[in-house]
Amino acid sequence: MKVALACDHAGFLLKERIKDYLAEKGIFYEDFGTFDEEPVDYPDLAYKAASAVQKGEYNRGILVCGTGIGVAIAANKLKGIRAALCSDCFSASCARAHNDANILTLGARVMKKELALKIVDVFLETPFEGGRHLKRIKKIEKLENENCLKKI
Ligand code: RB5
Repeated sequence: MKVALACDHAGFLLKERIKDYLAEKGIFYEDFGTFDEEPVDYPDLAYKAASAVQKGEYNRGILVCGTGIGVAIAANKLKGIRAALCSDCFSASCARAHNDANILTLGARVMKKELALKIVDVFLETPFEGGRHLKRIKKIEKLENENCLKKI
């Protein structure tokens, strides 16, 4: 398991805590920034980690901003990325089992760090169920292929 991590300034402290947690668990990660609490633009950071997941260099990504919303919106613009904003363990479990989400997004300003770590755990440990859910993922891929027009 290789995890790509990124955050904006609002997510920096939670991302640092997640790094410690992954290290404790012996899970390999790469930190794509940001590296302090100086204001940055979340799409730039979301793109760095999400594109590494998109290329297949990392199995999963975890993105953190203030609410988890901005990084989710940005990451989901990349073809093949299924980023899920989760604020509870049940959603994290379904994001993996049903949606085969490859990126978890978290809101550092809306949840306690300990809950965020539990969500990370569930997200990394839950396998995709396949079966009827695979058909639905294929439909998402079809939407990407047919409706994501490239703007010049
Ligand atoms: C930064 O102030 C904040 O807007 C950002 O972290 C995030 O919550 C955006 O969705």
